[in-house]
Amino acid sequence: MQFVHETNRLEGYTYCIRTFGCQMNKHDSERVAGMLDMLGAYTVETPEEADIVVYMTCCVREAADVRLYGQVASLKNVPAPKGRRIVAIGGCIGQRDGEMLTEKLENADIVFGTHNISHLPDLILSSLEHGTRAVEVLEKSDDFPTDLPSQREFPWHAWVPIAIGCDNFCSYCIVPYVRGREKSRPFEEIISELGRLATEGVHEVTLLGQNVNSYGRDLYGEPRFAQILEAAGNSGIERIRFATSHPKDLSIATIDAMATIGNVMPQLHLPVQSGSDRILQAMNRKYTAKQYLELIDSVRDRVGDIALSTDIIVGFPGETEEDFLATLRLCEEVAYSQAFTFIYSKREGTPAAKIIDDTPHEVIQERFDRLVSVIQASAYEQNQAEKNTVQRILVEGVSKRDSAILSGRTPKNQMVHAPLSAHHTIADLVGTFVDVRIDVAKTWYLSGTIVGS
Ligand code: SAH
Ligand code: SF4
Ligand code: F3S
Repeated sequence: MQFVHETNRLEGYTYCIRTFGCQMNKHDSERVAGMLDMLGAYTVETPEEADIVVYMTCCVREAADVRLYGQVASLKNVPAPKGRRIVAIGGCIGQRDGEMLTEKLENADIVFGTHNISHLPDLILSSLEHGTRAVEVLEKSDDFPTDLPSQREFPWHAWVPIAIGCDNFCSYCIVPYVRGREKSRPFEEIISELGRLATEGVHEVTLLGQNVNSYGRDLYGEPRFAQILEAAGNSGIERIRFATSHPKDLSIATIDAMATIGNVMPQLHLPVQSGSDRILQAMNRKYTAKQYLELIDSVRDRVGDIALSTDIIVGFPGETEEDFLATLRLCEEVAYSQAFTFIYSKREGTPAAKIIDDTPHEVIQERFDRLVSVIQASAYEQNQAEKNTVQRILVEGVSKRDSAILSGRTPKNQMVHAPLSAHHTIADLVGTFVDVRIDVAKTWYLSGTIVGS
């Protein structure tokens, strides 16, 4: 699919994209930005300043749904620079709710799905021209949507989708229903994109999929993720990361590839969800806590020093104190560097939504708080090991709190802050590699001093 358009049809128009949810959405947003830029529109900071507002939405938990409705409704009486504002809703809520969104939100002009972002410019142009509203959601797409222009958030970092959709049907999760079945992108296409990105000066790539470990199964009859890592290792891109891995599909070949390919970063996000076998089974995760821990052992044995992170759901229907304690124990044993912790959110249409549970919210909240402190303790502990080491960081920008302090990330993806020295400006350093001696290690970041030139 090639994006062909007259280039100036949105000249003078301003746009703003608000992105919720996972990296897949962030990547889709970069594509929407790429297309709107090509048509001559330019980006502004806030929806209030924009003629065109695009929401890339997420419906994995209820909170994200609620936030969208609030934000769209709040724009209703705010005039747009050119008079009429176009509000377009895409992403997973667009895909899931379609028509219903225009019924519920009177200022939603366009609803589009996850399979047809390439049509958004036409929908916007026709809405501007004829004042019409449009809903276009496709059940699925036959193409892997790749050849769209992309306006990357950071010129030195790129998201590279290798597969879309998900076949796993974890019992709590809505993603397979909205994003559809897993569809891998042809191997050669991924490799040629990596080569092109390397020549464009990209230093870091994150390979994306709901379950990257099963990459290729639909196309080649067997997973080929380890081969993707090998090829990525030869692409000339300095840092390769990937997300997300399902434990049931993380193969020894992949772990070996991580161990032997120098530019595959020592970082692994391996969502466990729960440490209780009973709950794991009810979640349809297809592994036990013991199997998960064995996997962690073989990762640490083969790769050595590595940052491990995870996703955990607290309060899955039927979770008891005992189940929860199993989760806490597992977290203590693994000693994660980071964890994304979520309170279970009921999603209509998923099997778990049918399970009745009357555990009071306070009990779940209290478990959640205990889990967060266990994670904080291990994150702090893991960071201590970096003290007095020299870390090569890829500079992302300045610290949010102080523009004289640069921030960047280590190979293990830890955030590092370091004061800019007198002979450097941030403009010189952003997107480059800098060595920093780590003096201080906190729970969520490290700080230190730039060494060398
Ligand atoms: N495909 C990825 C993650 C997709 S969603 C994976 O399997 O790892 C990201 C995370 O959201 C999940 O890992 C899970 O922890 C959380 N999540 C998904 N559905 C949820 C729900 N109904 N309630 C709470 N958290 C949920
Ligand atoms: Fe959802 Fe499970 Fe698929 Fe992840 S693997 S997207 S949690 S169904
Ligand atoms: Fe959310 Fe859709 Fe991603 S539901 S987590 S944006 S796949």
